Amino acid sequence: MTEFVKVERDRGILTVTLTRADKKNALTNDMYGALADAVEGAETDGKTRVILLQADGDMFCAGNDISDFAKYSAGQAPAEKHATRFLHALARSSRPIVAAVQGRAVGIGTTMLMHCDMLLLAEGTLLSTPFVNLALVPEAASSLLMPARIGHVRAFEMFALGEPVTATDAVAWGLANRVVPAEALRAQAREVAERLVAQPLGALIATKQLVRQPQALIDHMQAEAEVFAQRLRSAEAAEAFAAFGERRAPDFTRVAG
Ligand code: COA
Repeated sequence: MTEFVKVERDRGILTVTLTRADKKNALTNDMYGALADAVEGAETDGKTRVILLQADGDMFCAGNDISDFAKYSAGQAPAEKHATRFLHALARSSRPIVAAVQGRAVGIGTTMLMHCDMLLLAEGTLLSTPFVNLALVPEAASSLLMPARIGHVRAFEMFALGEPVTATDAVAWGLANRVVPAEALRAQAREVAERLVAQPLGALIATKQLVRQPQALIDHMQAEAEVFAQRLRSAEAAEAFAAFGERRAPDFTRVAG
């Protein structure tokens, strides 16, 4: 249980809101658990036709909670890591997922969006995937999906240098549907969700099945997860997490790979 994920059902729309605004909606294991429960539940609750994903505060999501990463790096992993269950639920979700994104989406904050079906960005939003900056590797099948959507060299720059992509570029590159004024984001995302609710659900589900290959995505996630787990235990990653906690730049020249 966590108070940092709010789930509401209303007229066929399951609205899932990240509410850990003071920590820029960084995701803890409990939050992944609540997100996984929500997305899995939408398959069987008999009511959900569309999922709407949004976040409180000035940033959509600063990625995985780095203090959780530091604990895993030190060998203190929880009994069940819910991030995997959440990502698999996203990949398998038969319902259309609409996302409303503002401020920044970092790491899994961006890669989870690759499993959404319609994406609205507030003006000024930046998307980034600085996995290598943290001595990690891409996850959530983003090492497959990102180059497929935006091309190898752009994807490599995002992954290897952590370079943020602007909202305008994200739309031009096919990562998002449109940029909207920040004050209109929630209303416009809701409107998109309502339009989808009015569509025939069976045809929507069948269309989503045709345009996505969940098992291939899950297989790719599993291959990424093995490398990710090795990287989490590396001295480089320990240095990156310590540097974040100490609010300093990491010094990777001091550590072995
Ligand atoms: N994990 C844990 N805590 C995080 C976090 C994360 N991923 N991102 C932000 N926070 C926390 C900060 O530690 C800070 O906590 P404090 O108020 O107790 O000190 C609070 O959220 C606000 O963050 P701050 O860095 O002061 O905000 P900012 O506006 O200056 O910068 C970011 C926002 C997102 C650019 C910056 O916090 C950041 O780079 N976070 C890490 C992102 C990241 O690398 N994620 C993992 C990707 S794989």
